[in-house]
Amino acid sequence: TSKNKQNINIKIIIMLSKNLEKALNAQVNAEFWSSYFYLSMSVHFADAGLSGFAKWFRVQAKEEEEHALKIMDYIVSRGNKVSLQPIAKVTQSWKSPLAAFEDTLKHEQEVTKMIHDLVVVADEEKDYATRSMLQWFVDEQVEEEDTARSLVDALKFIGNEKLGIYMLTKNSV
Ligand code: FEO
Repeated sequence: TSKNKQNINIKIIIMLSKNLEKALNAQVNAEFWSSYFYLSMSVHFADAGLSGFAKWFRVQAKEEEEHALKIMDYIVSRGNKVSLQPIAKVTQSWKSPLAAFEDTLKHEQEVTKMIHDLVVVADEEKDYATRSMLQWFVDEQVEEEDTARSLVDALKFIGNEKLGIYMLTKNSV
């Protein structure tokens, strides 16, 4: 009967294409890499005695882990497979707080590009659910770039003044 047909249809999970599954898994790895990257900055600043920045980067690392988990959960919810890949090595020291925040901004701009590339693939495949899931990341990137940019600006303004850097680390958490 048509009612039975309807029930069967409801049970069908429309899976991600292999192409999108691969691309989203690559993004999971990129988000974990970001987490590792910021954790590396966190330990670098803890070692340098700048505990405010150390805490700030620890929070960023946690957020990146949450981004990875969000995409992992989404892949699973579509009935696809998560594939966790090795996390590439990260830089371990920076010559100044400004250098670290410039690296942060540059990295976030690269992540924005990755997210936008994923949006293009989702659009091409007319995968509107993935397109919708990605919108959260599109918006999040605007905020992340903005935060990193304002810290770069503040550090440029302060220059090498130790007191200014100290004040900024106290206010950044
Ligand atoms: Fe997951 Fe900072 O982007």
